[in-house]
Formats: sequence, structure tokens, C-alpha cells
Amino acid sequence: MNILGIETSCDETAAAIVQDGQLIHSNIVVSSLKEHEKYGGIIPEIASRRQLECIQAVVEQALEKAKMDFDKIDAIAVTSHPGLIGSLLVGLSFSRALSYRTNKKLIEVDHIRAHLYANFLRFPDEDKALPSLPAIGLVVSGGHTSLYHITRFDQFDLLGQTRDDAAGEAFDKVARILNLGYPGGPAIQKTAQKIKNTDLQFTSAQLPATLDFSFSGIKTAVLYHHRDYKGTSSYPVEEVAFAFQDSVTKVLAEKSIKACRQKNCKTLLVGGGVAANTSLRQKLIDLGQKNNIDVFFPPMSLCLDNAAMIAGLGYQILNQSKK
Ligand code: KG4
Ligand code: ZN
Repeated sequence: MNILGIETSCDETAAAIVQDGQLIHSNIVVSSLKEHEKYGGIIPEIASRRQLECIQAVVEQALEKAKMDFDKIDAIAVTSHPGLIGSLLVGLSFSRALSYRTNKKLIEVDHIRAHLYANFLRFPDEDKALPSLPAIGLVVSGGHTSLYHITRFDQFDLLGQTRDDAAGEAFDKVARILNLGYPGGPAIQKTAQKIKNTDLQFTSAQLPATLDFSFSGIKTAVLYHHRDYKGTSSYPVEEVAFAFQDSVTKVLAEKSIKACRQKNCKTLLVGGGVAANTSLRQKLIDLGQKNNIDVFFPPMSLCLDNAAMIAGLGYQILNQSKK
């Protein structure tokens, strides 16, 4: 069964064709990120205008890349929430019209859950072990940081979440404080990679009795450090980026493993933009090995927003509804 996925929740306009919830035949992503850079964040009006302009061409390109006519598509899956309202509306209206005109079923998909589903996808020339459920899922994106216990593709139980900033949001805000540009995650990672270690330390809130997170305190600590030391010789920006990244990724990794232990789960799925972070990946691989837990990350291209994850989860939702 071939599903056409459509994703327009933030700055991307994406379309993909995925077979049987697993095999990616095409995955087209067009981003308006460059146009937002000078503002230091996404401007919703610009994002939705660009999406309106290019959505049809992006869907046509996905069909062309997959070498498929539309009659080979069995159903359409679209991101319904969460996201920027104007952007979501572009994808939803387009998909509804397409579904109505072609008489193909429309499946609405949760963007956050789909980030975790990215772990179940593979490209045609890829031969890799895929995870199975039950699993613990860590979503770390620009808007969300949450831990789930996933028992079925339509059953995600929330175990913990951020009480203030999302992890990606903290990366973006700290990069702004340090004048490293937008988006902040890749910029902080690149700056931190210039050194191997530092004595400088920032501490992320632990909230030890829960599986919740809080990143606004560490963001403020960086802000005060920047205010007090910038322009002095004791202010190498690489050390600040390194210490911040190290602290945030440490608490994310430790709480994910704690959730696995609490639920007696041997599989951990990671998803969302911050899953591209190499420091987080390394910490989770190390802790996973020590605790006998299999840790799965999507390939870099599927960590960020894409429509293959929407098509894949859409297929599973459709299947589950038939049972
Ligand atoms: O999942 P995503 O593409 O969009 C949302 O649904 O929010 O995530 C975007 C977020 C941004 O905050 C960006 O700074 C962060 O992911 N990000 C990273 C890295 N690459 C992207 N954060 C840390 N390290 C990275 N390498
Ligand atoms: Zn996302």
C-alpha cells in the first residue's frame, strides 16, 4: 500500500511516498528557513505564503521521484497538529481537496508522534534492523521535549515533558545570546566541536522525582555568564557552547534511560531536530550499552521535519483502524 504524506507544520513544505509504512520511494523537503534567518526565528506569515506557493509542485515532484502516477496512491496522510496554524492550514486544505477530488482516504497525523515513527523507515538500498514496540520515545524538537511509553502506534502514554522551553528552543535562544545565528542547534554543535573539554559548567534542572525537564534556568545562566564575561579573555565562546550542550544532552540522555528502566523497556526511540545532535547521540549510545538498551535514531535527513514520517505513521493508523 502506497501512502502520500504531506507535512507543512513549520517552515518546510514536504511530500513523500512510503510503501507499507516502511519503504521510502520519495521524500521531498523544501524549506523557507533562509528567509527567516535575518529575523532570528520563524515568521509564520512568510512560512505559510511560501507553502501556498510551492505545495502543488512539491507533491508533483514526490510522485515524479517515486515514478508513480497518482492512481498508484492508496491514501493521503497529512500533519494535522501541532504547528503554526497558517502553515498547517495550507497542508490540510490541500490534502482535503485532493482527497475529495480523487476519492482517496485522508488520515490526520500527529507531528510529534511521527518524529518517533521516523525510526521505522528505510530507504530502498538500506538494509538495517528496525525497532519493534513496546518502546520508550524521546522527542526533542524546536517546540517539544517529551518522553512517551509507546505500546501501539495509536497508543502513546506521556511520561514526562518540559515545563518551559523545549530543548531545541533552548539551543536556538542560547545561540542567539552567543550571536551564533539561526537555527541554533547546528550552530552550537559546530562551535562546541572546536574543543574536546572544558572546566566551565552549567547545570540543567534535574527535577529528580519526575521525568519532566526544564531548560529555562540554564538558558538564563548562559545569559548572565555572557553579560558578565563577554569581551574578556576568560570568555571563549566554544567553552560556553560546549558546557551548555553537554549539560542539556546529559539530562536528556539520563532521563530517557531512567524511563526505560521504570517501564522495563529495552528499546529507546529518539526523534526530532535535536536527535541530529552528535553529543546527545554519543551519550545515549554509551548509556544504552551500559544498560543493555537498544537505542534507535533516524538518519540525519529524517531527524528534521519531513513527510516520510507522516506517510509512515499514517499507514499504521489506517491499519490499526481496520482491526
Ligand atoms: O523537529 P524540527 O525540525 O522542528 C520542529 O518540529 O520543531 O526541530 C528543529 C529544532 C531547532 O530548534 C534546531 O535548532 C534543532 O532542532 N536542531 C538541533 C540540531 N539540528 C537541529 N539541535 C541540536 N543539535 C543539532 N545538530
Ligand atoms: Zn518537527
